[in-house]
Amino acid sequence: MTKKLHIKTYGCQMNVYDSGRMADVLAPLGYLPTAEPGEADMVILNTCHIREKAAEKVYSELGRIKALKAARAAEGQAMIVAVAGCVAQAEGEEILRRAPQVDIVFGPQSYHRLPDLVARAQREGGGLCDTDFPVESKFDFLPEEALVPGPAAFLSVQEGCDKFCTFCVVPYTRGAEYSRPVADVVAEARRLAAGGVVELTLLGQNVNAYHGEGPDGRSWGLGRLIRRLAEIEPLQRLRYTTSHPCDMDEELIAAHRDESKVMPYLHLPVQSGSDRILAAMNRRHGADDYRRIVDRLRRAVPGIALSSDFIVGYPGESPQDFADTIRLVTDIAFAQAYSFKYSPRPGTPAAAQAQLDEAVKAERLAMLQQLLGAQQLAFNEAAVGRRMDVLFEGHGKKSGQLVGRTPYMQSVHATVPETARRRLLGRILPVRIEQAHPNSLAGSLVTHQTASGSSAADDSGAISPDAKETANLRMTA
Ligand code: 5AD
Ligand code: SF4
Repeated sequence: MTKKLHIKTYGCQMNVYDSGRMADVLAPLGYLPTAEPGEADMVILNTCHIREKAAEKVYSELGRIKALKAARAAEGQAMIVAVAGCVAQAEGEEILRRAPQVDIVFGPQSYHRLPDLVARAQREGGGLCDTDFPVESKFDFLPEEALVPGPAAFLSVQEGCDKFCTFCVVPYTRGAEYSRPVADVVAEARRLAAGGVVELTLLGQNVNAYHGEGPDGRSWGLGRLIRRLAEIEPLQRLRYTTSHPCDMDEELIAAHRDESKVMPYLHLPVQSGSDRILAAMNRRHGADDYRRIVDRLRRAVPGIALSSDFIVGYPGESPQDFADTIRLVTDIAFAQAYSFKYSPRPGTPAAAQAQLDEAVKAERLAMLQQLLGAQQLAFNEAAVGRRMDVLFEGHGKKSGQLVGRTPYMQSVHATVPETARRRLLGRILPVRIEQAHPNSLAGSLVTHQTASGSSAADDSGAISPDAKETANLRMTA
């Protein structure tokens, strides 16, 4: 019997991946996805604890779900409500007390136990909480037949974090660092590639700390894993996120340099440009260490696009500390970045310290975002007039448009004749960039005649020689 499953996902790509796997483990029980929570037999909120007031947002969403559950009950239909992810891990039983409409609370390490939890919830009428860190790994319980999401997919290779930055909840909600064995990762990558995936993003809270067991019984680093994955023929693009500067080792930088499938883009959070604040944050590196890592990356891959995360208004941040952040951003020139006001997370060391004024945080954030926004626009403008390879992933909001991404992660809109749209999805094709916006590019498909007489946008499925040439193009920042 088919049942309907609605999963609402908050936060990072790790959660997007986990939500996909939850759908996979529930599929054998007859659950098929629905976008409508009101018609679902089961609703899962897969939550994130990183943002401010994360738990409060979950409780207000649970209020809306309570009404939907009551409406279904009035029609004689049941709805199982589950809360997953990092808020579930942090709040635990408290969720069941504050929101009795919730049947199951389970942490990020427990989703492989979902079928069992669902059966128990049906038998016992809810009230279940599973937020232990189990001895078995959830990755060992994933079904072989996973849904393939499209041409670009995520693959979780590492989870948890041992770094304990003083502002961050991850070491508490996701637990200690764990790396999946190389053979498991390769098997899942092969399955995804066989299902049509051409771009793979390896995920982990601290992905470049990857140290999975290799087939030789030794520990493999991320660079070595990436080289192994690059051998999987149908995969054309490899990315990974999120990395810590201290784990950017030579092997990984060499993989960027030598392996054309590794995209010339890196998200490398620095958080602050002040040595004093970096030390207070327990980041284990200084601002100049970060500059040196960027220099090494740029020598290896000229034109590599860099992205970062910043926190402004960390406890004790002085005007000079903030000026150091502005100087670092000015020196490096980021292609893209995320920036946040520091906000205390209960249970983390920095939360216990005296906090800066909200107005000061807001003012600094606005200044930093203005600079980062200008750098992002400049990076996008430098693409105008160039031909870039775009992996088309879906339809744009405006009719007639397809959207995809350049090697540098820029989102590109291209107007494409209706007859061609469907067959271009999932392919990497050259696009001439005509316009740059703060968050995206616009361009037209390059449809030239090749030696064999077929055009780049033809039916053959092959990428034209010119397209291959653009795949290796490195843009200078
Ligand atoms: N306050 C503000 N930003 C935070 N981040 C993590 N914890 C906090 C916090 N307490 C930001 C960091 C991290 C990103 C995912 O979220 O910049 O890299
Ligand atoms: Fe959090 Fe990243 Fe620091 Fe780990 S390295 S504690 S995930 S900010």
